[in-house]
Amino acid sequence: MPCSCRRGWVRHIGAMAIRPILRMGHPVLRAKAAPIADLADGATSELIRDMTETLKDADGVGLAAPQIGVAQRLVVVEIPASRLADEGGAQADQVVHQVLINPEIEPLDDPERSALGWEACLSIPGLIGQVPRWPRIRFRALGPDGRAIEGTAEGFHARVIQHEVDHLDGILYPERMTDLSRLMFVDELQEHGPPATPGETT
Ligand code: NI
Repeated sequence: MPCSCRRGWVRHIGAMAIRPILRMGHPVLRAKAAPIADLADGATSELIRDMTETLKDADGVGLAAPQIGVAQRLVVVEIPASRLADEGGAQADQVVHQVLINPEIEPLDDPERSALGWEACLSIPGLIGQVPRWPRIRFRALGPDGRAIEGTAEGFHARVIQHEVDHLDGILYPERMTDLSRLMFVDELQEHGPPATPGETT
């Protein structure tokens, strides 16, 4: 159920709703979300619709259900081609739009191997940090129609999926950071540029 505390106004646009996005500190963002057992009751398709609209409205690349106060294992990923081309990815020529229900991920390479890249989060507005992630992953999930889907992702696409799946386990990106001196305000980073990082790969 959506949170009704501060910033708790739901904006309706026709049949769709833009839901308020919870911020770091809200307990739902710390909880482990439950698998979705029943896709036939209509509630999940409504949730997917609202999450897609909320993500679009916020101009983000990924959103997990706990971010709108729903502790269920569902993520929506929407990555424009420009981001994939900029930051590396297998499908640099096309937009990635994915709805992943009960997703499972695993690294395609040595789990100890990670690449550093910048991440922001709609639940931590204004900040950006450099986070190590697996460069290539395999994912398995249910699609919005309940059918099993499986695929691989790399680069920025793999990073976004890992970030969103972390939300389902109550983990926010600063907890994955190995060097908190790389956590900063976006506008400071834009003004002063990134600090030099030996060995940065993404
Ligand atoms: Ni996030």
